[in-house]
Amino acid sequence: MSAGEPGTPVAPMAPPLAALRAEFPVLERLAYLNAGTNGPLPRAAAAAAVEQLERELSGGRAGGPHFARRVELAETLRAGYAACVGSAPADLALTTSTTEGIARVLLALDLRRGEEIVTSDEEHPGVLGPLVAQRARGVEVRVAPWAEVADAVGPRTRLVVCSHVSWRSGRLAPLGALRALDVPLLLDGAQGAGAVAVEVAELGADAYAAAGQKWLCGPEGTGLLYVSPALRERMRPPAPGYVNLAAPGAGLDAAPWEDARAYDTPALPAASLAQAAAALAVLGAAGWEAVRAHAAGLAASAADALAAAGRDVLARDRTTLVTWREPDAETAVERLAEAGVVVRSLPGEELLRASFGGWNSANDLERLLAALSR
Ligand SMILES: Cc1ncc(COP(=O)(O)O)c(C=O)c1O
Repeated sequence: MSAGEPGTPVAPMAPPLAALRAEFPVLERLAYLNAGTNGPLPRAAAAAAVEQLERELSGGRAGGPHFARRVELAETLRAGYAACVGSAPADLALTTSTTEGIARVLLALDLRRGEEIVTSDEEHPGVLGPLVAQRARGVEVRVAPWAEVADAVGPRTRLVVCSHVSWRSGRLAPLGALRALDVPLLLDGAQGAGAVAVEVAELGADAYAAAGQKWLCGPEGTGLLYVSPALRERMRPPAPGYVNLAAPGAGLDAAPWEDARAYDTPALPAASLAQAAAALAVLGAAGWEAVRAHAAGLAASAADALAAAGRDVLARDRTTLVTWREPDAETAVERLAEAGVVVRSLPGEELLRASFGGWNSANDLERLLAALSR
C-alpha cells in the first residue's frame, strides 16, 4: 500500500521542509517516528553545543564573561520558547522537563488538606507523579474521563491539571469547556508545544508546562513553563535559588523575581541552552506553521492508511500522534526497529504510537506501513 491510499494524499515536502529534513542525520537511516518521546537532533543544534563547550574548554568557566554568556543564552532561549507558546518572555520560566514545570506549579500553589485538584484519566506519569505527592499532603485528586474533565470541577476544586494533547491517543483536551471555568487551568503541553499551535491566552491556560526534548528537538533536560501574572499572584516559589532572586546579595531580605524567572530551574548547562536555542532556530527557519501543518497532514494520512490496512486506530484529533491496537506491541516495536522504523508501545496496553514531525516524509510513513504488513 502507498502512504496516501485511500486516505488523504501526502503532499511532497516543500523546499523549506526538505531543507529541514536534511538537518537531521538520523533520518538518513531511520524512519524516526518517535518525537513524542524525544525529537530527532538537528546538526546545527549539536554544533552549537560543541561550540559552547569549546568556549568553556579554552576560556574557562569563571567570572563575569561566563556568567554573562549563560544569562545571554538563557534569555535567547526564553524568548524562543515564549514565541512557541504565545507568551511574553517575562511569563516564561526555563525548566528541565514538563514534569518539573507541573511539579513547580503544584508546590507553589501550596494547596491544603481537603482542597481538590481535578485531572483526567489519560494523564502521563509526568502529571501523576506530582499529583501523588499532593495526595500525600492531603490534597484530594479527582479523576474524570478525558472528555468530561471540566464537568468534574466542584466547589473545593482549586486547580484543573490535564494534557493539552493526550500522549495516549493524540486527542485534544476539551478546551472549550476548560476555558469557560473560573478555576486555574494547568496544561501539560508535552505533546503540544511545537506539535500543534499553542497560544496560551487562547487556550485559557493559566499555566502551561512543556518539554524541550520532544517537538522542539532540544536536548534532554530542557523544558518550559508559562505562568500567567494572575496565577503567579497566588503562588510562592517553593525553593528559590540565586537565579530566582532579584537581588541574591540581599541575604535573608532577598525576594524572588516578580516575573517567571522566580520559577527557573536552578542550573541549566550553557551547552544545553545553546543547543536548545539553535534547535528552535532550525525549526523556525522552516516556518513553524509549515512544520506543524506538514506533521498534522502526515499523521492524518497515517491514521487513514492504518485504518485502511485493518488497524484499529484510537480516536484522535488533528495532532501529530497516531495510536493503534497491535497484538504483542512490545515485539512489534522490536520488529519495526529491525526494519529501521522507530515507534513506541504504550505501557500496559497492546498499543503502538507513531509520532510525525515536520521533518518526516511520505517515505517514512511508507516504511512504517510496509514494515507492519510484513
Ligand atoms: C503528556 C506527557 N506529559 C509529560 C511527559 C513527561 O515529559 P518530561 O520528560 O518532559 O517531563 C510526557 C513524556 O512523554 C508526556 O507525553
